[in-house]
Amino acid sequence: MEEPRARRIHSSKEKKIKRKEVLEKKRAIDEVIKTAYAEKDHLSSFPPFRRYDHNGLSVYLESGLGEKLSSSMKRYIQNLLKVNMERPYGPEWPTEEKVKRKEMVSPDARYIIVRQAPDAKVDDISKAEREMCSTCWMGDGDPVVGFVHYRFIVEEDTPVVYIYELQLESCVQGRGLGKFLMQLIELIARKNRIGAVMLTVQKANVSAMNFYRSKLRYVISTISPSRVDPLQIGAEKNYEILCKTFDREAKTKLEVCFICYF
Ligand SMILES: CC(C)(COP(=O)(O)OP(=O)(O)OC[C@H]1O[C@@H](n2cnc3c(N)ncnc32)[C@H](O)[C@@H]1OP(=O)(O)O)[C@@H](O)C(=O)NCCC(=O)NCCS
Repeated sequence: MEEPRARRIHSSKEKKIKRKEVLEKKRAIDEVIKTAYAEKDHLSSFPPFRRYDHNGLSVYLESGLGEKLSSSMKRYIQNLLKVNMERPYGPEWPTEEKVKRKEMVSPDARYIIVRQAPDAKVDDISKAEREMCSTCWMGDGDPVVGFVHYRFIVEEDTPVVYIYELQLESCVQGRGLGKFLMQLIELIARKNRIGAVMLTVQKANVSAMNFYRSKLRYVISTISPSRVDPLQIGAEKNYEILCKTFDREAKTKLEVCFICYF
């Protein structure tokens, strides 16, 4: 039976409105990402986060761009990634290392670089620890002791800050610096009207998993393999995708499991 003309017109109008809404939503999301990328130094909005003087550490932060990394910085990043991540990745490391090498210099890659302050007191980091750190940094300027690589991307039609890497040298770990950097990233997200911070953690990286989940209250995202398909893909994959959301829409799309309501 044919649909009455009036109903056809009505439903085609509805479709048009829906299409318009979808397009407007997409435009709004693209605008959020574009605006976030237009700012070249996200640190400039948060002067108190330029420096960290706590728990025997004196370090300062600077912003960086993937496509402008010096060769010594690229070498340093590769070294630190190998030192910290070879073990959790296990046999997947050689492939992953190549992927990370490409990601490192992407035009979308944004960095927060952590350097040891020149006026750090001698006893800020013990001599043995200092030697461990400075063996890694061979470039100009104050010794680099860690970095964050983050990007602005869209997941489930939601703009998010995705942390590609958060890497600290062992001599500066466990002194609150990781938490401080994560707070900064969350502030960058909120300032740019971005509803969530996301990241990937290897299941074998138990200490990082504890850090994010127990200390920083990140949760396993709905898009993580273990939630998409717990029995098969979830069991096969060696990683989880974690998130922290700041608004209702991001929470609904990235955190909440509707099945859990029933
Ligand atoms: C994971 C990492 C970024 C954490 O940073 P960090 O500076 O060492 O951690 P912090 O000192 O900021 O820890 C913050 C809080 O978490 C706690 N914490 C740190 N590591 C923890 C762990 N393994 N388990 C439970 N809690 C932990 C600290 O006690 C601290 O608690 P407090 O605020 O009550 O004092 C850092 O250790 C690191 O670079 N590790 C190697 C690389 C890596 O695994 N990166 C993550 C890849 S996804």
